[in-house]
Amino acid sequence: MFVHSLPSEVIEKISAGEVIESPLDCVKELVENSLDAKSSRVDVEIIKGGKKYICVRDNGTGIHREDMEKVIQRWSTSKIRDVSDLLQITSFGFRGEALHAIATVSKMIIKSRFFQDSLGVRMQVEGGKIVEKEQVGMQIGTCVEVYDLFYNFPVRLKFLKKEDTERNRIIKLMKAFALSRWDVHFTLTSNGKKVLDLYPCQDRKERIELLFGQKFEERKISKDGITVSLYTSLENTRGEIYLFVNSRHVQNRNLLEYIRKVIGYKKVGVCYIDLPPFMVDVNVHPKKREVRIYKENLIKELIRELFKRDQVHFTFGLAQEKALYTPSVEIVGIIDKTLILAKIGDYLYFFDQHLLSERMLYEASGDAEASCRAGLKAGDTISKDTALELVRAWMNFENKEVCPHGRPIYYRLYLGDIYKNLDRRR
Ligand SMILES: Nc1ncnc2c1ncn2[C@@H]1O[C@H](COP(=O)(O)OP(=O)(O)OP(=O)(O)O)[C@@H](O)[C@H]1O
Ligand SMILES: [Mg+2]
Repeated sequence: MFVHSLPSEVIEKISAGEVIESPLDCVKELVENSLDAKSSRVDVEIIKGGKKYICVRDNGTGIHREDMEKVIQRWSTSKIRDVSDLLQITSFGFRGEALHAIATVSKMIIKSRFFQDSLGVRMQVEGGKIVEKEQVGMQIGTCVEVYDLFYNFPVRLKFLKKEDTERNRIIKLMKAFALSRWDVHFTLTSNGKKVLDLYPCQDRKERIELLFGQKFEERKISKDGITVSLYTSLENTRGEIYLFVNSRHVQNRNLLEYIRKVIGYKKVGVCYIDLPPFMVDVNVHPKKREVRIYKENLIKELIRELFKRDQVHFTFGLAQEKALYTPSVEIVGIIDKTLILAKIGDYLYFFDQHLLSERMLYEASGDAEASCRAGLKAGDTISKDTALELVRAWMNFENKEVCPHGRPIYYRLYLGDIYKNLDRRR
């Protein structure tokens, strides 16, 4: 008597809210779609950490005009057809849920031009309902704009994190994409400012070194169809590990912890595991975040193998301090009582002294306004020692890119480019 079925509208929203919980999830799903569509360039734009606006634009194959309405329907996908395909997934997407979920909980404009068509289609959707659809002129590819995420889902809206937190999570996500696909040009613009601009690279190592601004060591091993490539930073900084299985960024606590132990807690490690798709189950987590890997122990063995030679040295007490130096920072000077000029590795960095100190206080206290007030100002005279302290602290920041309000903290030049422009070999 008291039990009744929920109206379908409520059910739709609840399940959409399970797939898309945050701006981060939204960006992740959209970029994955772009990569599945074979794009070589993906531009992401966010406003207010994605809470106000998200735009993902790509130059991929586009969506056929006859498919435009289908893509926002639940369980509509071009990626798998039957159960047997679940064993052979090589794409990021396969559930046909993401666009449906995003469309249900936002105001969305999706524009796409299929690569064999001369015109594109623009479709405007509000809370899952198509309110306008027309032909438009545009480049080949797809552009999805998401306005006011959860505007019709107040409970979820209430639980969104602070702008800075959402933005940082999206920056990290974009870095992970950049690490998984070194051949793709990624940009990230936040509140109108370009935060990341990562040109296509020759190989993984180049992208990794570019992203972290330091040199890495490469180790590689293959056995029984499994290849493990592990890149470790030469320098000790804030340790972090990225793990990719068949190009998918995954969390696998067990393996992450194992890698951390093997490479050391202060190293940056990027590990790629490539194996036949049937050896991974990507279908264990609703968000595809966790994967189950068969033969996880074999992978651990391979990782151990990679470091075996080092360990032999270690037993003989030869390896102790090998490559264990902290990054060399050289403060070149302070310009206009505003900019700290520093040489770090192969780059010349220009830091905004106010933003740098603000971020430092913020990472300690979590209070943006107080950190802004208490931090150094442009115009404050500081010594080279203070500058050095600030830059050293920056190296351990969780977010090195932007201040709590979203302004970029630094601008950097590659020394190699400077030498090249001066026609001098280093
Ligand atoms: N950027 C894009 N370029 C080309 N086609 C796209 C793009 N985004 C979506 N599509 C098409 O729309 C379909 C639905 O996308 P959606 O993300 O909802 O599902 P999916 O990627 O198939 O699976 P999942 O829900 O696991 O992401 C895709 O299968 C694809 O055919
Ligand atoms: Mg998808």
